[in-house]
Amino acid sequence: MKKTLKKKLLKNKKKEAAVVTETMQVYKRRFEKHFEELQWLYTELYGNNSMFAELCDQMESFYRERGADLKSLDFQRETDPGWYKRNDMLGMMLYIDNFAGDLKGVQSKLEYLQKCNVNYIHLMPFLETPKGRSDGGYAVSDFRKVQENLGTMEDLDSLTAACHKKGIRVCMDFVMNHTSEDHEWAQRARRGDGEYMSRYFFFDNDHIPSLYEKTVPQVFPTTAPGNFTWVEEAGHFVMTTFYPYQWDLNYRNPRVFNEMMYNFLYLANRGIDIIRIDAVPYIWKELNTPCRNLPQVHTIVRIMRMICEIVCPSVLLLGEVVMEPEKVVPYFGTLDKPECHMLYNVTTMATTWHTVATRDVRLLKRQLDIVNSLPKDYVFLNYLRCHDDIGWGLDYASLMAEGIGECSHKKYLNDYFQGFAGGSNSRGELYNADPVSKDARFCATTASMCGIERAGFEQNDGMMEQAIRLDLMLHAYMFMQSGIPMLYSGDEIAQVNDYTYKEDPYKAEDSRYIHRGAMKWERIENITDLDTVEGRVFQGLEQLERIRKKEKAFAANADTWTIETWEQSVLCIGRVFEGEKIIGLFNFSEHDKTAWINETDGDYVELLSGEEMKPIGVNVPAYGFYYLKKE
Ligand code: GLC
Repeated sequence: MKKTLKKKLLKNKKKEAAVVTETMQVYKRRFEKHFEELQWLYTELYGNNSMFAELCDQMESFYRERGADLKSLDFQRETDPGWYKRNDMLGMMLYIDNFAGDLKGVQSKLEYLQKCNVNYIHLMPFLETPKGRSDGGYAVSDFRKVQENLGTMEDLDSLTAACHKKGIRVCMDFVMNHTSEDHEWAQRARRGDGEYMSRYFFFDNDHIPSLYEKTVPQVFPTTAPGNFTWVEEAGHFVMTTFYPYQWDLNYRNPRVFNEMMYNFLYLANRGIDIIRIDAVPYIWKELNTPCRNLPQVHTIVRIMRMICEIVCPSVLLLGEVVMEPEKVVPYFGTLDKPECHMLYNVTTMATTWHTVATRDVRLLKRQLDIVNSLPKDYVFLNYLRCHDDIGWGLDYASLMAEGIGECSHKKYLNDYFQGFAGGSNSRGELYNADPVSKDARFCATTASMCGIERAGFEQNDGMMEQAIRLDLMLHAYMFMQSGIPMLYSGDEIAQVNDYTYKEDPYKAEDSRYIHRGAMKWERIENITDLDTVEGRVFQGLEQLERIRKKEKAFAANADTWTIETWEQSVLCIGRVFEGEKIIGLFNFSEHDKTAWINETDGDYVELLSGEEMKPIGVNVPAYGFYYLKKE
């Protein structure tokens, strides 16, 4: 008896050992594939062999610690690298507390998310952050601890596992440009510990800071002017590109880079599928430069990509680059040396709202043409609204050619969306209105910008009808863009602006909280009732989502192009994937219009109504749209 048990145990042990050797061989294969380039780039940045050796050791340890389920996911996705480009990918970003109280709450709402056809959730920052000095969670004081009110790391493990069971991918922010001033490193630096001071940018007088100020623009000119903060206790200035309580990390110090990579891998091992690299263009600083998009930033992102491919190849990198297209695109890297898997389509988002305010699609068409001409492997995340403000970063050179000046146009857009000009029904607030440059950005929810808030307040049915049509048309158009669509939690039931932030002294100064309101769950009861706004918007989106999931032509990497309509207010987008073709028509005006297109390559059916329709001289109703599929 005893003997057979012993034999069995021995056999099991041997089996286990064989599995371990096998997975280590997988690791070795990945490591060897990238080793040379990894070493080369690391040495170029740091020239420090022992720190490089430490990084490699730690990568292997994180790999060993990575759960078997995640390793098998790695393997699955490695063999199916296009897994995230399919037409069923639909994201939603949400604040855990606003959406469901805490992480456990989110886990209890997974069925609702599935009802929304969402299979990718972006959990807004949830790591430890000081109350009142958190920048919405973007000032992290401990990268390995969840905010107490939101739960624990175990809750996160359990949520990601539950999501994976349902085929939902989880995204989180990796705020690597800075730490909170309460982070352990910052506390030690504040007490004058040189080792920790060297992890930030400290200066004992304002000479160097004033030189930096000459070339570095301001992110928050009104709410947090300047790029440096005086730290009384340390008797030094510290670099703070964002808020004074967000201290910029010094990536010239290899200790900073290594430790942050260990944090990154720790989080990846919690089952995170997509890591959003926050404020990535800012991570390398150099005197006499704008301290944005420096070449070293790309070296770092490339190294991160290789670290992912070695340790956790199922993880995607999403870069947050809120800049003009020429600056965004390099973050994809090249096809043989890729950096980020996905980037935000920010200029298109801003240009969309410009189009709403002008009812003129020409600039948007040009912008989409730029995006559509990029390699299909580049995947953009498309969105109408996110947690941040809208900066009016448009192609002003093109607008100038038509006599539209940057300053006056920004003023028009801000006036329009506050509801002051251009026959607008929008509601919202300015953000960081700079009294010197007269520049301002804008904040509001999609529904409020479409007029749903005003129509509801005035109980104006005609206005409401128009606002809902605009809201749905914009979503239909967003689904048609090249890439993956991302909903903002609450938009599926047309949540309007939330003004209660003004009563919270910690938030009152930051108007971005106007569109970061709590989810109104009592309204969810209405989603089946077509006599309510929630019902109409939810079901309208549902229909679009179902079509998108069914039709291959919506794949992220489908061929996408625009078609001239000879009508200023109507945009036309074509898509083809594996022989299937869809044409979308979108009327950005409150009047009926005719799109003078002439597609004579066969019969088409309109996917929402199921009716036959010829894509030749199509009448598109006010704020209406069509999805025409070639039969
Ligand atoms: C990103 C975030 C923004 C935050 C900033 C600083 O831009 O989207 O909300 O304020 O980074 O971390």
